[in-house]
Amino acid sequence: MKTCLNESSDWIPQSLSQILGIPNERIDLLKTQKIYSGGRLAVLMREINADLSVCSDRMGRNSLHDVLMMVREAMCLQTEYRIIELGVSDDHKNILFVNPKMTTEYIGVDITPTAFKFISQKLCPFRRIKMRSVISAFEDLSSPSEVYNLGDEPSIFLLLGWTYGNFAPNKIINTIKRIMKPNDLLVLETATYTGDNTKSLLDFYQHELMQTFFYEITDEFNLDGVLKQLWIENGRKRAVVSVMVHNQKRDNQAHAVVLNVARKPSPREVVTDFTEKGFQELTHILSGDRNVAVFAFRRE
Ligand SMILES: C[S@@+](CC[C@H](N)C(=O)[O-])C[C@H]1O[C@@H](n2cnc3c(N)ncnc32)[C@H](O)[C@@H]1O
Repeated sequence: MKTCLNESSDWIPQSLSQILGIPNERIDLLKTQKIYSGGRLAVLMREINADLSVCSDRMGRNSLHDVLMMVREAMCLQTEYRIIELGVSDDHKNILFVNPKMTTEYIGVDITPTAFKFISQKLCPFRRIKMRSVISAFEDLSSPSEVYNLGDEPSIFLLLGWTYGNFAPNKIINTIKRIMKPNDLLVLETATYTGDNTKSLLDFYQHELMQTFFYEITDEFNLDGVLKQLWIENGRKRAVVSVMVHNQKRDNQAHAVVLNVARKPSPREVVTDFTEKGFQELTHILSGDRNVAVFAFRRE
């Protein structure tokens, strides 16, 4: 079963090995592409987000609101622009970037049609702002024309919430680059988890729906064992890993299979990921409670 989970992920078995006390060679990575295709995990995550009110600005997270506003100011928007949101937010965050005089259109890209409910209602009064929904997996988009085709105005891409770390960085950044034009802007929000504030994060992965999903996968692969969600850190790299630990009959030794990795990159890691791929950092602001970081990048 030994397979490569995604680029530069060798640190994951190494860190797990230390936590679980299982040698590196007895830690396998399940081939994720096959299992997670079809977007079922994405849809599930959206349902769990709604249930736990995460990724939402409704919990009085004024600090997030303020940071998004500061980033918008720092971008000094002076011309008309379109908004393209990758992973549609409820109507609290994305609406902060809508300006009735300067926004020409709002395009949301999401794998699930239910994501568009709130923003469609919110945009109704702004008759001159065109609204379009692109129901697609991000990774299936190969050119700007699959997302938009009107006007030469620049686009502001929004990638908010917990979305960035759920993908292998090279994969999502390459996708974004394929559909962005030079000088377009990207606003990215990420949580800045550290080892001592991970409870809500682990609650997310221990949600009933997520556990059922993982047990379906382990059934499919005939894996029997104990499912664990672990927070792992190695220098600036951080992630929540869902792993099944089991005893193999063959050698009666403990083995582990990694089912899913959700990266929680530190702000410095985000900056490195993007600047190495040819983006220029315009600004980067941390919320007052230091739990959220919002970045603005320009595609060069
Ligand atoms: C973590 S939620 C964040 C939602 C929103 N940006 C926010 O901040 O509230 C991720 C969103 O991206 C969508 N999504 C996840 N994976 C996707 C994929 N591979 N292709 C398209 N949409 C995806 C989900 O349906 C969900 O709406």
